[in-house]
Amino acid sequence: MRKPFVAGNWKMNKTSAQGVALVNELLPAIIGYDRVERVVCPSYLAVPAVSARLQGSPVGVGTQDLYWETSGAYTGEVAPDMVKEFCQYVIIGHSERRAKFGETDESVNKKVKAALAAGLVAIMCVGETLEENEAGQTEAVVSRQVREGLNGLVTAAMENVVIAYEPVWAIGTGRAASAEGANAVIKDFIRKPVAALFDEKTAQSVRVLYGGSVTGANAREFFSQPDIDGALVGGASLKPVDFTAIVAAAAER
Ligand code: 13P
Repeated sequence: MRKPFVAGNWKMNKTSAQGVALVNELLPAIIGYDRVERVVCPSYLAVPAVSARLQGSPVGVGTQDLYWETSGAYTGEVAPDMVKEFCQYVIIGHSERRAKFGETDESVNKKVKAALAAGLVAIMCVGETLEENEAGQTEAVVSRQVREGLNGLVTAAMENVVIAYEPVWAIGTGRAASAEGANAVIKDFIRKPVAALFDEKTAQSVRVLYGGSVTGANAREFFSQPDIDGALVGGASLKPVDFTAIVAAAAER
């Protein structure tokens, strides 16, 4: 049985003081849902304060990116060990990084490997754009992102990988994918390539999340699908009531 997983991607929102205020409100509300792996991902500068506040709590912390080199002349970048000092998780290959900051399947692959080598859980994002979706390229795009992102990993490493299916057209638009549609993509275009790369057991045990306009109101529908193990939540993760409702829905899975 795959443990339900809900992560909040705060994107470029919340100073450290605002982030601490958010978790002060959130923590008492979600602390009881032990069936669910719960994670918040603040921006880099808010991570130390939020992580200190969550120390000893069941809620984990992640960053929204990292760089694959361990140290050196990479102005502006953050190394895996620097993330590991405060975090247990890292989001890699978010579509906003792919679209706006030149992230490629190759850099995603390097980052996933570096994250795993540092002992982090990598939350690797995949998903097609609206144009790709309308051109019937969803399978080609998503399965390629899975294959290339996970290329060269040993099977055992997959225990520390979570995959998030985030169709780009559903992110921040209020236009979520249908639960059945998201489940079909996850089953056929994510789990199948994972089976081809590794084995069927890994394909069935890797956790796969849906992300894109998940709210307290629609989360239950996604989590009732057999191949959806949780959510990567953007906007609603900034609202304690909504995020709590999503965690509560995941606990019923
Ligand atoms: P929204 O939940 O705001 O659509 O964002 C989804 C997302 O990009 C999470 O990484």
